[in-house]
Amino acid sequence: MKALALSASPRKDGNSRLLAEAVLEGAASRGHEVELADLSDAVAAPLRDCRTCRQADGACSIGDGYESLLLRQVLPADALVLATPLYWYGIAGQLKIFIDRLFCYLKTGYPGCADVRRRLVGKRLAVVVSSEETYPGSMVGVTAQLQELARYLHHDLVGVVRGVANSRGEVARDPADPLAQAYGLGTRLFEGHVSDHRIDTVRDGVVWP
Ligand SMILES: Cc1cc2nc3c(=O)[nH]c(=O)nc-3n(C[C@H](O)[C@H](O)[C@H](O)COP(=O)(O)O)c2cc1C
Repeated sequence: MKALALSASPRKDGNSRLLAEAVLEGAASRGHEVELADLSDAVAAPLRDCRTCRQADGACSIGDGYESLLLRQVLPADALVLATPLYWYGIAGQLKIFIDRLFCYLKTGYPGCADVRRRLVGKRLAVVVSSEETYPGSMVGVTAQLQELARYLHHDLVGVVRGVANSRGEVARDPADPLAQAYGLGTRLFEGHVSDHRIDTVRDGVVWP
């Protein structure tokens, strides 16, 4: 299986990227193929008005690396690892723009939309976040948004790890050892148990056999 981490921090030596790398190391330890992309390298502009932005053939006219990232890296991946610093109690803008611009490729105006729809769904998803603050509520916005995104895309959200840190790399000194948690999340990326019950869900009395 293939796992792709999308790192949203502009700091390539920052904390959230370290967490993403730890998830990938965990996945690689189970024999999976892993890759990391920095969104700041690929995504240069926000969503525009598709009606005026699309080219005559329906393609997006924003000439940055988004299309290549989406078609060559995101769609072929079996799992995505979304890595973001906590910015103003939400995800970093670079990740929000990445998500917003999926719109251009999912709408019927884009000639390959059926293929994108088919290949974007059904992935495994992991989320890693670094934040300066520790209180649980600071993460509610991020967790809620990405859980909803996972639901919409029929992705399985395997887990969320938050590391507490501010200056570059200090996530390694967080006593909760989020790097180890992230590594563990990576080892479970494809095998981990994910549940989301409804009243009629058939289930055993125990979770772990
Ligand atoms: C624009 C901006 C907004 C931030 N907002 C928050 C915040 O709301 N809460 C918080 O705990 N930390 C906040 N921080 C601190 C970062 O989340 C923290 O430094 C994080 O470790 C940075 O991750 P990185 O090293 O991957 O870039 C903010 C930092 C910046 C630059």
